[in-house]
Amino acid sequence: MSSGLDKNDIANKISKINKLTELESFRVQYVGKKGILTSEMKSLSTLSNAEKKEKGQYLNSIKIFLETELKKKKNFIENLEVNEKLKKEKIDITLPPRNYETGKIHPISQTIYNVIDIFGSMGFSVESGPDIESDFNNFTALNIPSHHPAREMQDTFYVENSSGDEEKVLRTHTSPVQVRHMLNSKPPIRIIVPGRTYRSDSDATHTPMFHQVEGLLIDNNSNMAHLKGCLIDFLKEFFNIDDLQYRFRPSYFPFTEPSAEMDVAYTKKDGVLKIGKGNEWLEILGCGMVNPRVLENCNIDSQKFQGFAFGMGIERLSMLKFGITDMRGFFDSDFRWLNHYGFNPLDSTSSSGI
Ligand code: DAH
Repeated sequence: MSSGLDKNDIANKISKINKLTELESFRVQYVGKKGILTSEMKSLSTLSNAEKKEKGQYLNSIKIFLETELKKKKNFIENLEVNEKLKKEKIDITLPPRNYETGKIHPISQTIYNVIDIFGSMGFSVESGPDIESDFNNFTALNIPSHHPAREMQDTFYVENSSGDEEKVLRTHTSPVQVRHMLNSKPPIRIIVPGRTYRSDSDATHTPMFHQVEGLLIDNNSNMAHLKGCLIDFLKEFFNIDDLQYRFRPSYFPFTEPSAEMDVAYTKKDGVLKIGKGNEWLEILGCGMVNPRVLENCNIDSQKFQGFAFGMGIERLSMLKFGITDMRGFFDSDFRWLNHYGFNPLDSTSSSGI
């Protein structure tokens, strides 16, 4: 028939195409706005009815043919391209792995993660507070009034204060977060507070900045037995020792009454400390029933509520658990030290996922 619209010719041309872009220009050439087939279709209107019918049918069959062939070819080219891509992307599993450096988790962070994991499973949530604290939160509210000798238990860094505002200090313990939390929420309370603390002290066993974790539980009836159970469970889990030997010794803290310190037994062999059993005792934490005066200072009715608190040093926990003997290593930022004592971030025991 006229106008070069012949199925064989079309099939022949399509068979020579092997790129999607070429296929698209071919399609446009035939069925685009000004395409060959489109113009033929348009010109049908100028024909007589009889011619229109005959040519119309013919053009329609060409159109269907063209569409089917284009579709087939499109599929074919696409498959070809995918296969080609797959071939190129083949992975050579015989290649040696590339060397890359991974960081290590610092033992202090690791210890904090462990502590959070354990207290978290007992229903404690994690709170935090600022490093620069008001004198009220750090001392007064905790029943340590100014000029009280208990202030000398801790060598405080005072923050220079020219404006005549209330005196600010670098917090000497994490206990002020107890105050912040009690002032801002209602019992029942069950929190732990890991964080940085500061004291003007520096030798082999003290650094001016160190870490503590505080615990506070307030409700209607928690007593000393709950406090003991909670801390015993924690230490057994933390050191992974079922028959851990421990003792509670009466002590004094202004913010708890009664107060105690908890010791764990250890042995020392060839300079290496072994926690769990033995004739020597190592102090590990301070604790007690929250002093009713502290509750009142924080607007909590001490006739209705009571509870316990505890505080411990993260560095000490970390040294005992991981066999670290010199505290200064924690803050020297020596990569060799960190490589040795640090933890692999991908190790499932390394992180609590927070
Ligand atoms: N804040 C105390 C300190 O830094 C530790 C402490 C002792 C915290 C007894 C407590 C506690 O919450 O009940 O020495």
